[in-house]
Amino acid sequence: MYTGIDQDHVKVMTIERHILEQERFHPEATGVLTSLLYDLALAGKIIASKTTRAGLAEILGRAEEVNVQGEQVMKLDKFADRTIYRLNDHTGRLAAMASEEHADVLVIPDRYPSGKYVLLYDPLDGSSNIDCNVPIGTIFSIFRRKSPGGEPASLEDCLQPGRDLVAAGYILYGTSTMMVYTTGQGVHGFTLDPSVGEFLLSHPNIRIPEKPKYFSVNLGYQIYWSKGVQCFTDYLQGKDDGIQGLSLRYIGSLVADFHRNLLSGGIFYYPADTRDPKKPHGKLRLLYECAPLSFIAEQAGGKGSDGRQNILDIQPESLHQRCPLFIGNKDLVEKAEEMIQRYDP
Ligand code: AHG
Ligand code: MN
Ligand code: MN
Repeated sequence: MYTGIDQDHVKVMTIERHILEQERFHPEATGVLTSLLYDLALAGKIIASKTTRAGLAEILGRAEEVNVQGEQVMKLDKFADRTIYRLNDHTGRLAAMASEEHADVLVIPDRYPSGKYVLLYDPLDGSSNIDCNVPIGTIFSIFRRKSPGGEPASLEDCLQPGRDLVAAGYILYGTSTMMVYTTGQGVHGFTLDPSVGEFLLSHPNIRIPEKPKYFSVNLGYQIYWSKGVQCFTDYLQGKDDGIQGLSLRYIGSLVADFHRNLLSGGIFYYPADTRDPKKPHGKLRLLYECAPLSFIAEQAGGKGSDGRQNILDIQPESLHQRCPLFIGNKDLVEKAEEMIQRYDP
């Protein structure tokens, strides 16, 4: 018998194969979610092909408009937004989409079949970093629609707590392109091999290391934080009886900061800013930034919190709702909660 090929060594796990194999954990699965995740991987490849050429094509620079958050829209934001929408509007897998770049829910047009899932996404996260060649990302949340099929989806289908997420993930456009996702069966990371155009399994079953290495926060705003957040920051810097030896790393792209801490151990936080009336709830958006990353954190043994409660327990009230975020190693997130409770009653 020919034994020259050791099966374990030649097993090339493409993202498509991995998603299909994960489907086995869900006997009720129809394959729709599998196809939806694969469509998102394809969107990631298309967006990556543009981000790597950002300085070459006429993509770089600002579009002459602001988005629904009142922020400057980069052209790549629009490209990423349209790519994801167009790959998903006609498939019959979705009932609605919602994007950071659109004020309202994007209901699937009548001319296409309506599906059983809802997709919420941040098409390009950290987009103010594009001009400087700093890593950026795409973040997505997938819920099951709540309203009965056969009628148009509504805002209520999108306003679901993170606990109800069916799947969540992100694509990181960094030194290489990676897709990381969970369907509630652990967190798995894939690296795009540009020569073959496939995402290959490179980080199976990611767990946040128990010993943290980093803390990530925009210290430029420290004087505007509450006493609890300031004390927590002192704790991270080893003051009084604080934890010692953590390094500070802040990229300013949530996906990249989160990803580093996921692999190396640490905490990212973006607290509320007492100075800016637009940021009483922080800057980051619950539905397509905080909740999906908190689902991933929890699946990797970590946690996401707004400082008072688990992010996954928050019932959203509006599509672009913001909330403070503390995410990463469970112990550190719980330390933040403890200090906020003690000093910011
Ligand atoms: P987006 O580009 O989708 O608007 O998100 C930007 C966010 C996030 O990626 C990052 O963590 C944060 O903005 C950085 O904000 P500061 O510059 O205030 O630190
Ligand atoms: Mn973002
Ligand atoms: Mn964005």
